[in-house]
Amino acid sequence: EAAAPFHGPRQAGVTAPQQPATQLLAFDLPQTSAAADRQTLRTVLDALTRTLAAAASDAPSDARLQSLGTTRLTSLVGVGPGLATRLGLDVPAALADLPTFPGDRLDPARSGGDLLLQLCAADRWTLTVVAELVATAAGSAGATPRWSQSGFLPVTTPGTTPRNLFGFKDGTSNPAPAEDEQFVWGPPGAHHDGTVLVYRRIRMDVAGFAGLPADQRERTIGRRQGDGVPLTGTAEHDDPDIYAKNPDGSYVIPANAHVRLTSPRLDGGTRMLRRGYSYDDAPTDRGLLFCAFMRDPAQFTRVQNRLATRDALTPYLQHQASAVAYVLPGCAPGGSLGERLWT
Ligand code: HEM
Repeated sequence: EAAAPFHGPRQAGVTAPQQPATQLLAFDLPQTSAAADRQTLRTVLDALTRTLAAAASDAPSDARLQSLGTTRLTSLVGVGPGLATRLGLDVPAALADLPTFPGDRLDPARSGGDLLLQLCAADRWTLTVVAELVATAAGSAGATPRWSQSGFLPVTTPGTTPRNLFGFKDGTSNPAPAEDEQFVWGPPGAHHDGTVLVYRRIRMDVAGFAGLPADQRERTIGRRQGDGVPLTGTAEHDDPDIYAKNPDGSYVIPANAHVRLTSPRLDGGTRMLRRGYSYDDAPTDRGLLFCAFMRDPAQFTRVQNRLATRDALTPYLQHQASAVAYVLPGCAPGGSLGERLWT
């Protein structure tokens, strides 16, 4: 199967079909003078572009990526809000760090960063090799590694929704490709082919949640566990009807259910493109790498403010790391990511 091509107006890692394995990597750049640091950023982005394009090509030069059929690597590279401000880069005005939410336990050593990359592939081998190539390229151009996080999905039939570690289908309700133009990609103009990635490493109390009775687990989400059907519907892709009521006047999808509090209906119809992965880093450190793409990170902030205080899932979750990045437009062969950052 052919990999999504590296070159193009938009980076492939945002909307290419979700692959089974991911690796997120963050780097920092030196802080000397704005002029010198801009030059370093250019050099780093050139090096990353060359490395990622070569690794995704049909004939990768690294022996470890050969004989794999194709590597099927897809990737994206973004810049963090701190770097954009420091260097006066041309990024969307809305790009900003997230506020602190109630209950956050963020580890700075696993959060933030000047540059954020997401690699996705069919297998861990490819990710490990490419992550090392990327670190070498970025390092020789002057960047230092900040954190790295790997994640995975269950094996699923193409076209079906993967589950998270609570056992629920995750990713059912996402914008249709045509809606991506409105909610994911930037408005016409300089940022039209870019988007904003919000990343959260969310530890899940898998045993605690599994201990709830089955009907309570389903009321916590607002969907059935087996098939993902909303409590108000008959098919997985039916829109959850958050206004439907039981004969006793209570809501069918409870007031504190996750799909009510995250419903686009509570947010003027706004949607985000969620492409989460699971992680498993230690016997009691498992959870979700929440990755979502949107035009404006305020979309995430509005939803998370509702979830942090009211979501029935919240007692089983702990947000441990966070990052935001402007995912750069793509580039043509011979070009470089980040060509339009310099005003
Ligand atoms: C929907 C799980 C965190 C936003 C869902 C669904 C599940 C789920 C099972 C229903 C199926 C689907 O439509 O994909 C989880 C788990 C989380 C988590 C286990 C934490 C570990 C978050 C966070 C946000 C969020 C932090 C954003 C702040 C959404 C949205 C939907 C959704 C927007 C779709 C709502 C709709 O359009 O009906 N989530 N979620 N989730 N979640 Fe989460």
